[in-house]
Amino acid sequence: MLRKTENLSAQTTTANAIPFIDLAAQQARIKDNLDARIQKVLAHGQYIMGPEVAELEAALCAHTGARHCVTCANGTDALLLAMMALGVGDGDAVFVPDFTFAATAEMIPYLAASPVFVDIDPHTYNMDAESLERCIAHARDVGLRPACVIPVDLFGLAADYDAINAIAAREGMHVIADSAQSFGAVYHGRRAGTLGDITTTSFFPAKPLGCYGDGGALFTDNDTWADLLRSMRFHGKGADKYDNVRLGMNSRLDTLQAAILLAKLDVFDDELTARQTLAERYSAALGNRVAVPHIPQGLSSAWAQYTVRVPEDIDRAELRDRLQEAGVPTNVYYPSPMHRLSAYSAHHCDPAGLARSQDASRSVLSLPSGAYLGDDAFDRVVGALSAYT
Ligand SMILES: Cc1ncc(COP(=O)(O)O)c(C=O)c1O
Repeated sequence: MLRKTENLSAQTTTANAIPFIDLAAQQARIKDNLDARIQKVLAHGQYIMGPEVAELEAALCAHTGARHCVTCANGTDALLLAMMALGVGDGDAVFVPDFTFAATAEMIPYLAASPVFVDIDPHTYNMDAESLERCIAHARDVGLRPACVIPVDLFGLAADYDAINAIAAREGMHVIADSAQSFGAVYHGRRAGTLGDITTTSFFPAKPLGCYGDGGALFTDNDTWADLLRSMRFHGKGADKYDNVRLGMNSRLDTLQAAILLAKLDVFDDELTARQTLAERYSAALGNRVAVPHIPQGLSSAWAQYTVRVPEDIDRAELRDRLQEAGVPTNVYYPSPMHRLSAYSAHHCDPAGLARSQDASRSVLSLPSGAYLGDDAFDRVVGALSAYT
C-alpha cells in the first residue's frame, strides 16, 4: 500500500524497463513486408501522392466501411481540414471535450471560431451529452452560433454518438468525430470512421494504427465534402495542381508513410484482438485495486491506452516513481484539463463547471500496453501495481 501519508524512501534497484509500447516487436514481425514495400517506393520514386496513397485510402475505406478516405499529413491537420470543408468560421461555437489532447481544440481559433469546453462522463472519459446541452445554451447566451461538435474517442473508446448525433441534428450542427485514438474501434456494429459527418484520425507512431512519422486521414460518406477535402489538402487544387480554385494547405500523406501503413494494416486486426485480450487480463487482475476501464455494452475499444484511475488516497506521482523504479513506465494522459491550460483558459466552458474532467486529470494512469506485451512484462506490471496499491 502506498497511501498519501506514507513517507517514502528512495528505492535503489532498477529493473530492466518494460517498453510502454513495443513498436520494435511489431517491426520485427512485419519486417519483410515493410522492407519490400519501402523498396518498391524507392524504386518508383513517386514520393508525393504515389500509388500507395490511393491503395491505402481504398484499404482504409474497406476496413472502416466509410465511402471516402482522404489521407493527410497528421491528425491535427485532419481536424483543420474537416472544419474548413464544413465552413466553420467567425462567430461559430465548436464544442470539444475538456479532457483530451490539446490538438482537438487547437485549430478552432485559427478559423476565428470559439472552442467551448464540455465536461465528460466519468466512466468512459468521453463527452457528456448533458454537459453538451448546457454548453450549447451557454454559447447562444454569449452570442455564438452552435456550429459543430467534436466528440473524441478517448483512449480508443468511441464516444456516445447516438446521443451526440441526435443533439447535433436537432441543433443543425455538424459532427466531426476525433478518432485519432480509436481507429479500429467498434460502436454498435459500426467502425470508427463512420460515426460522425466527418471522422478524423492520426497515424502518429504510438496510435493504434501508426506510421513511422506523422500521418492522418479523414473519412466521410459525403461526396461533396470528400472532393473539398481532396482539394484543400493540396493547396486548393481544381482540375490540376496549378489550377488553384480555393485556399487550401499542403497536407498530404507521404507515399513512404502510406507504404508503411499498408504493411501494418495486414496485421492490424490480429493486433486489435491481442490488445483486447491484454485489456481483459489487466482488468481481471487489477479490478479490485484500481478503477479499470468501463466499456459500455455493444462497444469495443481500439485500446490506444489501457488507463486506470488511481484511488484518491494514493499519491499518483509517488506511485509512478515506484513503478518506474520497478521498470514499469506509466504515462498520464492528460495532466491538465483543457480549460486549465494557459493557451485555452480564456475560452467558454460548461456553466456548471468541469469537475469530472478535472478529477480525471488528477487520477488517470496509463499502463504499458499494446499487442506485444509479453507474459513476463504483464506479470511485472500487475505485480508492481499490486504491491503499491
Ligand atoms: C485526441 C487527439 N486528437 C488529435 C490528435 C492529433 O493528431 P496528430 O498528432 O497526428 O496531429 C491526437 C494525437 O496526438 C489526439 O490524441
